[in-house]
Amino acid sequence: MVSIDEMFTFCKRKGFVFPNSEIYGGLAGFFDYGPLGVELNNNIKQSWWKSFVQDRDDVVGIDGCIITNQKVWEASGHVEGFEDVLVECKKCHERFRADLLVEDVLGIQADGLKAPAIDKLIADNDIRCTKCKGGLDKASRFNLMFQTQVGPKPTNESVAYLRPETAQLIFTDFKAVTDVSRLKLPFGVAQVGKAFRNEISPRNFLFRCREFEQMEIEYFIRPKQACPFVKSVEMYKVLVYSADMQENKKEPEQMSMKDALARKIIKNDWHAYWLAACHKWFVDLGVNPENLRARQHKKDELAHYSTDCWDLEYNFPFGWKEIEGIADRSDFDLQQHAKHSKKDMSVFDEETKQKVVPHVVAEPSLGVGRSFLVFMYDAYTYDKDRENIVLKLNPRLAPVNVAVLPLLSNKPELLKKSQELYDSIKCCFKCVYDKSGSIGKRYARNDEIGTPYCVTIDFDFLENDDVTIRDRDTTDQKRVKIDDLRNVLFQLLTGIVKFKDLK
Ligand code: GAP
Repeated sequence: MVSIDEMFTFCKRKGFVFPNSEIYGGLAGFFDYGPLGVELNNNIKQSWWKSFVQDRDDVVGIDGCIITNQKVWEASGHVEGFEDVLVECKKCHERFRADLLVEDVLGIQADGLKAPAIDKLIADNDIRCTKCKGGLDKASRFNLMFQTQVGPKPTNESVAYLRPETAQLIFTDFKAVTDVSRLKLPFGVAQVGKAFRNEISPRNFLFRCREFEQMEIEYFIRPKQACPFVKSVEMYKVLVYSADMQENKKEPEQMSMKDALARKIIKNDWHAYWLAACHKWFVDLGVNPENLRARQHKKDELAHYSTDCWDLEYNFPFGWKEIEGIADRSDFDLQQHAKHSKKDMSVFDEETKQKVVPHVVAEPSLGVGRSFLVFMYDAYTYDKDRENIVLKLNPRLAPVNVAVLPLLSNKPELLKKSQELYDSIKCCFKCVYDKSGSIGKRYARNDEIGTPYCVTIDFDFLENDDVTIRDRDTTDQKRVKIDDLRNVLFQLLTGIVKFKDLK
């Protein structure tokens, strides 16, 4: 597996991601997506939206504002408690996110530790500044929200925040959504959008940024309502690492959801269902399941709103790390907003014929940037025979679906036919037309950016009305009649037909 620095270099070189405002020296924790990156990012978001919103009858979407009334964040507890622990070097005044510093130096898990526990670890182990070896000051709390002013006149009331999670907009719009949709419990509300956190130590490229995107669902149930979907994932297997396994130094175990529930390792059928559904989304899009695991939060890691939380983790070159959190938020947020706004947040439950404030039993919350890294890592392959990188992205995610390539670039009849062919299919697929360089170089260029299929137009085309389709992963080639081309490409790209099964 390439290091995260090598992945960054590759992404920059091929136009996937650039450091933000690089011509002025950049800005730590901010990245821009380039021509290929924006396509991959959009495909990730579209695929997620299709699977978790459009294909389901029980989930609807919203798209809320980035800047919101400060009262939202007072009610949600973020103003008071959305913070990390910070330590500062007494000599060079470098500031560190304390849990990450402790993790780096001692190799233990320190996420969620409070300031006194961090101070004790620092004193007991004589942890010093990693830059100048100076002593460290007492740990302090640091709120991660970006504050701004709304309107021309700064007052206490004009203070607003850039949202640190998309989730709260789902809670503040909850009544509006339920009033206009015919949703019955259980149901979900989803959102994809930007979130902002003033991270103390942004690092590992897209993994920890200050501006990033989230894909979130708040899934609402009547308290104690059973999960009607759990049967559909019973036999689905996931590598499970419970809080108990972590505390008792046991290894994670591969198990079916049925087994995990029967052994009370996963206690809630909703959690089993959502863990499996989120895991399967990655696997269906080509991610190797051996690189994924479900890890339960230990008690001291839980966020202020959460009673239980499972993370989906990926085995990055810098360790197993969270890509998606699936938290049980109970009725914490709706009750908080009911209290602060003095608005009724209950819905009428047709089954019990009573009003109820629903519970969020599961909040699948996934970072787009972290998903981007997962798909890139799982796709990135060095092919020794081709002496080239081959990016084996699932065709549904690949930034370019089809490259149209005239075999020779100095034959006007070939160029004319190739251009016509390109024009006739580009309305259906994301295509590029490439005539510069040898055919070998053009194949290599497309392998490197993950283009699953190259269509090559040679002289036989002029006689037989057929072209060659080349498969990125095997380099195998098959001839297809021009009249069938659109249909064949559609079937290949959607996975209806495998390349090896093409006649
Ligand atoms: N609403 C719940 C919530 O925001 P979280 O665990 O803080 O929970 C959810 O964040 C997901 O958002 C993470 O699993 C990760 O994929 C992404 N994420 C969080 N902070 C991030 C950061 N600084 N940079 C990139 N992605 C981040």
